[in-house]
Amino acid sequence: MNIRRICEKDLERLTDLERECFSVPWSAESLRMLLQDNFLAFCAEDDDGTVQAYAGMMYVLDEGQIVNVATAKEARRRGLAEQLLRRLLEQARQQGITFLSLEVRQGNLPAQELYRKLGFSFAGVRPNYYVKPRENALIMIRSLLD
Ligand SMILES: CC(C)(COP(=O)(O)OP(=O)(O)OC[C@H]1O[C@@H](n2cnc3c(N)ncnc32)[C@H](O)[C@@H]1OP(=O)(O)O)[C@@H](O)C(=O)NCCC(=O)NCCS
Repeated sequence: MNIRRICEKDLERLTDLERECFSVPWSAESLRMLLQDNFLAFCAEDDDGTVQAYAGMMYVLDEGQIVNVATAKEARRRGLAEQLLRRLLEQARQQGITFLSLEVRQGNLPAQELYRKLGFSFAGVRPNYYVKPRENALIMIRSLLD
């Protein structure tokens, strides 16, 4: 598995992954934001070059927010999201980012376990933040100063 920064040619595949993984998927145009200067985004491609997972973060000065993490259903539980997030955290640290946050559905236990494994902790709730279905968001945070 190869981890690399995403580029323009990945947007179509990322759109497919969004549709496969989320009830309110990002469009290709929204995903294009990940190529901007204030975003960091990595993908994991398998040996035949198929992108199987990706993770993206937006940042301003020394604060970052993880905005998407998704792994194709057929490629789950192989450590891809974990590798991607570790890479994202390493790169964020190198760029002087000291604090990360993210939102996750209250019922999304696999993602919460993933973030907890990566050192994130719970910091609050945004009631009814998500739609399709309506659900609370949990806010998780992590300092990069350790
Ligand atoms: C959450 C998601 C990104 C995890 O991707 P993945 O590549 O399968 O995760 P990994 O294999 O890297 O798992 C790393 C750790 O996450 C946790 N984890 C992942 N899937 C899990 C599951 N189904 N149940 C419990 N823990 C899970 C475990 O701690 C795991 O470590 P372990 O394998 O040593 O137990 C994937 O399930 C997904 O795409 N879900 C739909 C989209 C989504 O919910 N994204 C997050 C939005 S906030």
